[in-house]
Amino acid sequence: MGKIFKTIGPMNNDDIDADITDHDTYEKGFPHMAFKHMRDKDPCAWIDEKDGGKGFWAITRYNDIREVNGLPKIFSSAQGIRLEEQSKEEFEARKTFQETDPPVHNRQRMMFHRGFSRKLISTYEPLIRDICNDIIDEAVDSSEIDATKEIAKKLPMRMLGRVIGTPDEDAEWLVSRGDAMIANSDPDFTDHVVDKVDTDEYRFLPFRSPAGKEIYEYGEKQKRLREDHNMGDVMSMLLQPNKQGDKLSDLEFKNFFALMIAAGNDTTRYSMASSIHAIANNPYIFNCLKSAPDDSPVWDSATEEFIRWASPTIHFRRTATEDYKLHGKQIREGDKVAIWFTSGNYDERKFSNPFNLILERENNNHIAFGQGGPHVCLGIWLARLEVRVAMQELLKRVSKIEQIAPEKYLRSNFIRGIKNLPVKLTSA
Ligand code: HEM
Repeated sequence: MGKIFKTIGPMNNDDIDADITDHDTYEKGFPHMAFKHMRDKDPCAWIDEKDGGKGFWAITRYNDIREVNGLPKIFSSAQGIRLEEQSKEEFEARKTFQETDPPVHNRQRMMFHRGFSRKLISTYEPLIRDICNDIIDEAVDSSEIDATKEIAKKLPMRMLGRVIGTPDEDAEWLVSRGDAMIANSDPDFTDHVVDKVDTDEYRFLPFRSPAGKEIYEYGEKQKRLREDHNMGDVMSMLLQPNKQGDKLSDLEFKNFFALMIAAGNDTTRYSMASSIHAIANNPYIFNCLKSAPDDSPVWDSATEEFIRWASPTIHFRRTATEDYKLHGKQIREGDKVAIWFTSGNYDERKFSNPFNLILERENNNHIAFGQGGPHVCLGIWLARLEVRVAMQELLKRVSKIEQIAPEKYLRSNFIRGIKNLPVKLTSA
């Protein structure tokens, strides 16, 4: 066990009764006490929903989340992965391979895996470092900045773009469309806030958002550009038939493209923002990492701990396909079951001192990427690489990072993130 450092971030006893379904709750920071209370007193809790939802089981302990996630035959993704109730038609129109179960899931997963394997992604490190250099140099020159907007938000799309092959100049637009989809509950990112205005018109589009249509069209354009011409990027590779001659259909590619833009941006952004927040607020973390060479093993453990600490994907939903008993509760066939990854990553039964960020934490089997289930994050190696390289390059360029005003949190029960992080950077 390495050194232990004090908790950073909100730990508020007032949130013990917080409504975990309400997007407003998360604007005040993650309701850690509410989840701790659930883990201790009612780890498989029935939660009623407002606004026409039929209610769901909330699974909040680490071991139970892994159990449910590891049984896709019983806890299926093929009836939806968000808590939102959808008609059959809406579901079919918006379905991606994330909303399928094995063995159907395996085919597309294997097709996409070609572009995101650890081996291939590691070859992108020099490119990713280059992008970091540009963006971080610019940020350090400005001295006082919003680190989420000027660093954490700019990097992931530029990095993902370099890997999949979208032009740098489209990155900002792609991010804004990705945000409008996945942060569809925060008025800072969309005019079509799902629980505030009528989004019925968009119910057949990804995330009930008009941005889904724009992303579909952009994806189709990118596909056409590569139809007769291999551009040597991951997108060209994914459009090629695999060894067995199997090819992605138009709809499969289009939906995958939209999923990648939504899933590959904000999660990495908020992991970086949370890491910068930790570095700015703890001199040991700053000093230890600043003096560590790029190939020091502390960077591996620190990156995992930063991602556990950030746990940006709060929950995913499954649907029970048969009756199942958990902690004496009877889950019935057809019930919605939500697995709360962030809660699992702070479970005292699994992690010693989970509310402390421990750079050298050993055996850090966190579940921020949905580990243990068939849908474990496809971008896991890319995200790890991005977070590590971004923090390394940032620390090389600064002698000090100070937080100069309180951070602000995303309004979302689905994605956890610091959306504004005002800091002062002193160049090295
Ligand atoms: C720190 C950053 C990230 C976190 C915390 C994260 C988290 C997750 C989680 C929890 C899942 C599992 C969902 C489930 O169980 O239903 C997932 C799946 C997925 N992620 Fe990530 N993700 C991150 C970065 C990325 C990146 C950079 C990409 C870009 C390619 C990406 C693409 C995907 C895709 C395509 C899936 C669906 C995989 C499948 O259904 O088989 N993610 N991610």
